[in-house]
Amino acid sequence: MGFVLVLVSMVLVWGYGGVEGKECTNEPTQSHTFRYNLLASKNQTWKEEVMSHSHNYHLTPREEEEGGQDDDDWRMLYEKMKMKKAPEGLLKQVSLHDVRLHGGSIHGQAQNTNLKYLLMLDVDRLLWSFRKNAGVPTPGTPYGGWEDPTIEVRGHFVGNYLSASALMWASTHNEELKNKMSELVANLSICQQKIRTGYLSAFPSEFFDRFEAIQHVWAPYYTIHKIMAGLLDQHSIAENPQALKMLTWMVDYFYKRVLNVIRKYSIDWHYQSLNEETGGMNDVLYRLYSITGDPKHLVLAHLFDKPCFLGLLAVKARS
Ligand SMILES: *[C@@H]1O[C@H](CO)[C@@H](O)[C@H](O)[C@H]1NC(C)=O
Ligand SMILES: *[C@@H]1O[C@H](CO)[C@@H](O)[C@H](O)[C@H]1NC(C)=O
Repeated sequence: MGFVLVLVSMVLVWGYGGVEGKECTNEPTQSHTFRYNLLASKNQTWKEEVMSHSHNYHLTPREEEEGGQDDDDWRMLYEKMKMKKAPEGLLKQVSLHDVRLHGGSIHGQAQNTNLKYLLMLDVDRLLWSFRKNAGVPTPGTPYGGWEDPTIEVRGHFVGNYLSASALMWASTHNEELKNKMSELVANLSICQQKIRTGYLSAFPSEFFDRFEAIQHVWAPYYTIHKIMAGLLDQHSIAENPQALKMLTWMVDYFYKRVLNVIRKYSIDWHYQSLNEETGGMNDVLYRLYSITGDPKHLVLAHLFDKPCFLGLLAVKARS
């Protein structure tokens, strides 16, 4: 807990230092010239303005006074949506479990096509590279395309399957789908337990060594995010408690990895490494934190907020 607080202050104090003069991109080989120039600018006022937003998405008092200008309308609307509850009886959140489409409608037909597709996919084939990576037997053959065993982002489709099947099950309560996705989660858990560190992936953890060393690798966090989001959906939408345990174990593993990078190199280095796209890592971690209340999950979420990107968005810089 003590270390968590120290780390939060480190992030707050160094957040801006970490982006000064660095490119902000999702591909380290590409230059986003405008952002680079702005961040490299000698204008201290402008830089401080950016800095003050890096890890603070609330409106500053000055911005609040300026509210009402045309281009602020969307933001005011959003603030109103956040502050005020919808008028009684007008809008209310409804669980997907309580919504059914008419089978004969075009939407019902589309849903049924989607359901058939999800049922058509084979658990052994989806699991193939996860099993291979964990060193457990691999019956069947792997899928091709994005899931081909030579593709560096393999496994992300499986993460998407976990999310899609959770949503589809909530929308249909199809038993066959429920069995299929439960088998998938249970077998992924077997892979995770075999590896024993919390790591769960269709590719070796060596990809993360390359990510952390800022060497060429294809978006390993993007892929891991899909798996984490899939497990979270299996827990929160499909009510599978095993999925939450697997997810928190995975997060423990990546928490240690990120802290290790910051200790070994610097927070600046960590933020630079995020230039290789990291998908919705912050999003899934904030969602997880809202369930667990574990401060570690909040800190790790913050560490995936990219200051060079969000800081500029917050001050509405345009390129
Ligand atoms: C520096 O930035 C501030 C804030 O954006 C701006 O008002 C000011 O004109 C800039 N100064 C120079 C010298 O460009
Ligand atoms: C794992 O997947 C296989 C299909 O390969 C299935 O028969 C088995 O029931 C699954 N294991 C669990 C624990 O669900």
